[in-house]
Amino acid sequence: MKIEMERTFVALKPDTVQRGLMGKIITRLEDKGFKIIAMKMLEVSKEQAEDHYAEHKGKPFYDGLVKFIMSAPILAMVIEGVNAVAEVRHILGATDPDKADVGSIRADFSPIMACNSIHASDSVESAKREMAIYFDLDKELCTNWKTMMELVIDAR
Ligand SMILES: Nc1ncnc2c1ncn2[C@@H]1O[C@H](COP(=O)(O)OP(=O)(O)OP(=O)(O)O)[C@@H](O)[C@H]1O
Ligand SMILES: [Mg+2]
Repeated sequence: MKIEMERTFVALKPDTVQRGLMGKIITRLEDKGFKIIAMKMLEVSKEQAEDHYAEHKGKPFYDGLVKFIMSAPILAMVIEGVNAVAEVRHILGATDPDKADVGSIRADFSPIMACNSIHASDSVESAKREMAIYFDLDKELCTNWKTMMELVIDAR
């Protein structure tokens, strides 16, 4: 089995922010062992929305999607961990909450497909592209910090 340290882009969508569910969803990612190395709450601009969802341009749901992601703030994050891209997608569950596995974030929190609570990149390449839409990658990633265990060892 592949074991790769990866980074992925995650965004808590407007429905999550509006409903006060950010903490509960972040907890699921942290509980699984993922490290949050960047986090920013922001109002998505039209340009960012169109860039993020460029692959869906022309689809019937595209206009609604762009409108929705701009309807309230999002919480953008960069997440690091083992096999982060696939693992985070697994924790999210299927795009349609009705089809998502019980216990997944979308099954447990999302009312409908258009408001499915959380986005995560679907490949390492998408992750790099999406991170750069929302973060200054030279300045905004917090990579130079130690785990509690490393601090304990250093303090001996
Ligand atoms: N058939 C559809 N009808 C309505 N909305 C849809 C449909 N398909 C996708 N969407 C919306 O567009 C978003 C992007 O679709 P995509 O196929 O990339 O799904 P995803 O990768 O599971 O979700 P996301 O990119 O948001 O993490 C979905 O999260 C969903 O909100
Ligand atoms: Mg997608």
